[in-house]
Amino acid sequence: MNNNNPLLEIKGLKKTYPVSKQLLTAVNTVSFLIFPGETLGLVGESGCGKSTTGRCLLRLEEPSAGDVLFEGKSVLDFNAQELFHFRRQAQIIFQDPYASLNPRMTAQEIIAEPLRIHNLAEESQIPQMVAHLLDLVGLSKTSLSRFPHEFSGGQRQRIGIARALAVKPRFIVCDEPISALDVSVQAQIVNLLKNLQKEMGLTYLFIAHDLAMVKYISDRVAVMYLGHLVELAPAEELYNSPQHPYTQALLSSISIPDPVIERQRVRTPLQGELPSPLKIAKGCPFASRCPRVQSQCREEKPELKQVAPGHIAACHFPLHTS
Ligand SMILES: Nc1ncnc2c1ncn2[C@@H]1O[C@H](COP(=O)(O)OP(=O)(O)OP(=O)(O)O)[C@@H](O)[C@H]1O
Ligand SMILES: [Mg+2]
Repeated sequence: MNNNNPLLEIKGLKKTYPVSKQLLTAVNTVSFLIFPGETLGLVGESGCGKSTTGRCLLRLEEPSAGDVLFEGKSVLDFNAQELFHFRRQAQIIFQDPYASLNPRMTAQEIIAEPLRIHNLAEESQIPQMVAHLLDLVGLSKTSLSRFPHEFSGGQRQRIGIARALAVKPRFIVCDEPISALDVSVQAQIVNLLKNLQKEMGLTYLFIAHDLAMVKYISDRVAVMYLGHLVELAPAEELYNSPQHPYTQALLSSISIPDPVIERQRVRTPLQGELPSPLKIAKGCPFASRCPRVQSQCREEKPELKQVAPGHIAACHFPLHTS
């Protein structure tokens, strides 16, 4: 997969917000690649900048610095027409489909709307296209005339997915698409997303809290802490051999079915409070909570370094060298 050119290239992405006369750094100089056909998982505690990163990639928010390239072209340089075309290719699915679906529109209208906005079909073709999209996401035709409140959470998320797919996108930011759903429904939606990816050659940025689910769906996983990218690796490797103490702490809270790995695992639960994103210390962002902190960590911000092929971590003392 990584022999391909990246579909998206995120370079030094930064997003700040003015908050009560201070500057909050939501995303702090983050760089990574997303390859065609892959799922890149994005994890980290609440407030670490996952959604902001996702929104900046789609230019739903203007980055404060850095660049986002889609197929080698800067999304930030797009004129209105190019942006309109990009918005078709790059979609988003939200955590709470109830909040993102218009309550006064029927499922038929919700799914047909992007087809009309992007002028993708004759009016006479639309009913057939909507029926096909409903079928793709596993909903029956009886859903067509129903309103969002008449569906279950999982069904509503299926409508959100059908709406995103209507424009035949290439890339979808899935922003916690299963967090609001019953556990029993979560796996169904994740499997639906996986199957659709295979059928349609989709590329996903999959933002989530549930680390076990992220491992299941992702090819590679990126970990953010306080706006920084702290580790990125192939999913298996990240879970079996996390190098950054923050990733280790996150993983400490989930159980791993493999008993060998489970026994060898260093358990380092997360301690202390998450520092405010308004006060950025000069050293490592994780220094105040790190069980392996040394004086260098408080002085010098660690750069992302390769710790194994395809595996990078921003730690002065990653596990394998300590
Ligand atoms: N419009 C905004 N104005 C001010 N601050 C914002 C804005 N949007 C996000 N933030 C702040 O930026 C930081 C990152 O927020 P973001 O929503 O990206 O985090 P997240 O990782 O998606 O969190 P969660 O897991 O809770 O969804 C947080 O401190 C948040 O309060
Ligand atoms: Mg979020």
